[in-house]
Amino acid sequence: MFAFVAFAALMTPQAAAQEQPVEPYKIDPTNAGAAPFAGDGMARAFGGQDGISRIVDRFVTANFADRRIGEIFMNQDEVRLRRVLFEQFCYILNAGCTYTGRDMRAAHKDMGVQQGDMNRLVENLQAAMQAERVPFAAQNRFLAKLAPMRRDVVER
Ligand code: HEM
Repeated sequence: MFAFVAFAALMTPQAAAQEQPVEPYKIDPTNAGAAPFAGDGMARAFGGQDGISRIVDRFVTANFADRRIGEIFMNQDEVRLRRVLFEQFCYILNAGCTYTGRDMRAAHKDMGVQQGDMNRLVENLQAAMQAERVPFAAQNRFLAKLAPMRRDVVER
């Protein structure tokens, strides 16, 4: 019983939610890979920071649980990914954030991501945006911003 309680204490959310350190890199919002939208239309279409946060959470959870691409995410730093992906989306949607993560080439280096993996990830993002009732036109504008990043993410 005592052992179980001690184990459970180790597994508290605080203990599990530690972000792992990464190799040093230069922090620069242009690492986000796309310039932010002008105005607040896109931020509002996504429900502001609260909506973006829910979309990122749903999206990250779906990617880790995915039978097709989950293997690529397995053993990666989910805590960090949730934080910097939120920053990236919030920054690009002009919802009042800056991006402190790595650039897309460095972030996906040697992961072996293929075009089919990218397509699957986009499907998961579409489902997350749909669940948050982001208007279809705004979904597509956002996906069009992300699309050119393919060349830095997908390996050939
Ligand atoms: C346009 C498409 C994509 C965008 C915008 C994107 C965005 C990001 C960002 C912001 C990070 C974190 C960078 C950092 O840690 O500093 C990241 C890491 C990562 N991405 Fe992507 N990504 C894309 C495509 C993909 C695809 C297609 C896969 C695989 C199916 C993938 C798998 C991963 C994994 C496994 C990590 C590492 C997480 C970690 O180091 O903890 N990404 N991505």
